[in-house]
Amino acid sequence: MRLDKFICKSTALNKEQARLAIANSDVLVNELIVVEPAFQVHENNIIMLNKKVLTARSFRYLLLHKPANTICSNVDEIYPSALNLLDIEHVSELHIAGRLDADTTGLILITDDGRWTFNITLPNNGCEKVYRVGLSRDIKEEVTTQFKQGIQLQGEEKLTLPATLEILSPKEMRLTLTEGKFHQVKRMFSAVGNRVISLHREKIGHVTLDVEEGQWRYLTLQEVQSFCKE
Ligand code: URA
Repeated sequence: MRLDKFICKSTALNKEQARLAIANSDVLVNELIVVEPAFQVHENNIIMLNKKVLTARSFRYLLLHKPANTICSNVDEIYPSALNLLDIEHVSELHIAGRLDADTTGLILITDDGRWTFNITLPNNGCEKVYRVGLSRDIKEEVTTQFKQGIQLQGEEKLTLPATLEILSPKEMRLTLTEGKFHQVKRMFSAVGNRVISLHREKIGHVTLDVEEGQWRYLTLQEVQSFCKE
């Protein structure tokens, strides 16, 4: 982790204040002054600020039921950030592991542990994301096979990875993906001549959405560990 990030994670300082402390030579790493904010530090380093040893806060792992008309960015844009719904400290240190579009609702996972996020977002890790999809037109039976075999999306070199489509009613599907390309679900249905009119994420890996819209909770240790590769 970068030294300035470590200072933020172990004190009440923000990034600017942490950088100032580093530039002022107030920070020691293993008893040596370090003035480079990007300097990489590790768990076994002894990091001191004004002669006090610092200990980083533990990583946090949460789930949130994202409402429509919120965005998965740390800053508000046309719509407010979904992170505004978290009534906890140091929200700016958190990020969303696998974004949803502004009009998509459902499960988002939130953390400050970048390595854990990779387990969820890298397609090679095979982490399943389950979506409930509402369509504008009746689905054709053969789409299930097409999705299994992979779909050619506009602007992509490779076919999509095999996806499982469960038809719940002619216009309502449950779709399981292991990758998360930009607007992937909408583009997959568009590629087979249909249009997504509602999209809701129900599950990521072993974690199922179990809180009301706009609510959040911390993940259990078991849920956190279920994303860690052996
Ligand atoms: N695929 C989409 O098209 N949108 C989302 O929000 C998530 C997956």
